Amino acid sequence: MIVYAKTSIRATLTPMSRNLEPGHQERAELAESVLGVLQDWFDRADTMAASGVELDDDLAARLMAPPTDDGRSLDTILADVEKAGHSGVFHPSGGHLSYIPNAGLYTAALAEFLAAGLNRYTGVSGAAPGMSAIEHGMVRWMASLFDMGESASGVIVSGGSMANLTGVVAARTATLGDEFTKGVIYVTHHTHHSLEKAARIAGFRKEQIREVGIDHDLRMDPDALSAAIAEDRGAGRDPFLVVGSAGTTDTGTVDPLPALAGIAANEGLWLHVDAAYGGFFQLTKRGHAVLSGIEQADSIAIDPHKGLSVPFGVGALLVRDESHLIDANQGRGAYLREEDHDSGIRDIASLGPELSRPFRAMQMWLPLHLHGVGPFREALDTSLDLAEHAHQRLLGVDGLEVPWKPDLSVVAFRFEDDTLGRLALETINRERVVHLSPTTIAERFVLRFAILNRRTTRDHLDHAIDMIEKTLVG
Ligand SMILES: Cc1ncc(COP(=O)(O)O)c(C=O)c1O
Repeated sequence: MIVYAKTSIRATLTPMSRNLEPGHQERAELAESVLGVLQDWFDRADTMAASGVELDDDLAARLMAPPTDDGRSLDTILADVEKAGHSGVFHPSGGHLSYIPNAGLYTAALAEFLAAGLNRYTGVSGAAPGMSAIEHGMVRWMASLFDMGESASGVIVSGGSMANLTGVVAARTATLGDEFTKGVIYVTHHTHHSLEKAARIAGFRKEQIREVGIDHDLRMDPDALSAAIAEDRGAGRDPFLVVGSAGTTDTGTVDPLPALAGIAANEGLWLHVDAAYGGFFQLTKRGHAVLSGIEQADSIAIDPHKGLSVPFGVGALLVRDESHLIDANQGRGAYLREEDHDSGIRDIASLGPELSRPFRAMQMWLPLHLHGVGPFREALDTSLDLAEHAHQRLLGVDGLEVPWKPDLSVVAFRFEDDTLGRLALETINRERVVHLSPTTIAERFVLRFAILNRRTTRDHLDHAIDMIEKTLVG
């Protein structure tokens, strides 16, 4: 049992300030209560259902109630948090095969608590040079996975959407400057919608985003890209950005990155690769082979809160040349002390849109240093194995069409009869052992197993496939 020493500071605090400054023993008790909830959550993670009950109106109203002036006990608050946690889709469950999974990571949650508790300011490097060094180290490590070279840099943001936005703005600034009304961005139908959103936020009109044709495997067709660029140039437009996907959300498909890189280089276009889902497969031998060509990208979006399972809120934008990020994001205010800037370590605020920001790197740095990279690589490798297993089994099921061999760990398939596909989805999700989310491809209803949760086992996949077979035989 831990014995907590009493502090002398507490005795000097007024009752009011004591509420916001819990003493040594109170802090320990508060933390113990919170850890109790987490212990239970992680104890149950392996056997947890994939989804829960619906949020009832009474509970929703209670959760939305404003705070009172006098507060209430942590016990009642945590009881509400637990109840709030009973509804929705449970990402920690191994049965979570929908969207892009994220199992979460206990040591990363501790790291986030630690970072929030230390509350150091990582906007300008002078304020927390050590923490800034940790963050730059994580960015450099990620950039080194893709051989991005000595002048590579990047910024840790809240996720893939912000990484894509930061990439679009960097590309726009580097290639078009301030005059971008004729700029054209090339995507495919399967590019994540955050790219279109990013383009709109960055000031582009809808018609400046061009959907390039795809081949049978749903990959961007390089010939179609070249033709589109030629057509746009002919019409007086300014092609400037090609977006390749290193793992689409729909099917996990990787675009032909070497061909796209070649075209981008020849045409003087910026190549941004959205590797938010697929990027960390670079740690594995198979993933490295599939992602070949990504090392030629000008910028890469990659999400530790997908591939490394750290809690939501950690994504990154990597760039080949740091100066492009600085050009797009540099800012100064009279209220900022010059001596706090770039104190031998680049200001993180000069690399992205945020000034005050959470110290997100801690969520990667602590677990990676504690566990080593190996267990993360093994988990990703297991996801690839499971995808192969599911793909093989699905190929043998009568009544299914499995047209796309998985590049990574998303296995997509459709039913000969879309109605049965919808029925299977409803039956599977109602049972709650596994949770699936569908998509639509060429106007057909498509189911998918998105495998990225280290708690997912063959049993989860076999169970889902057994249920699909049952649906098919009626
Ligand atoms: C390929 C891809 N890009 C971007 C995103 C957006 O990432 P975030 O949800 O972290 O903003 C996702 C999310 O699933 C994704 O799969």
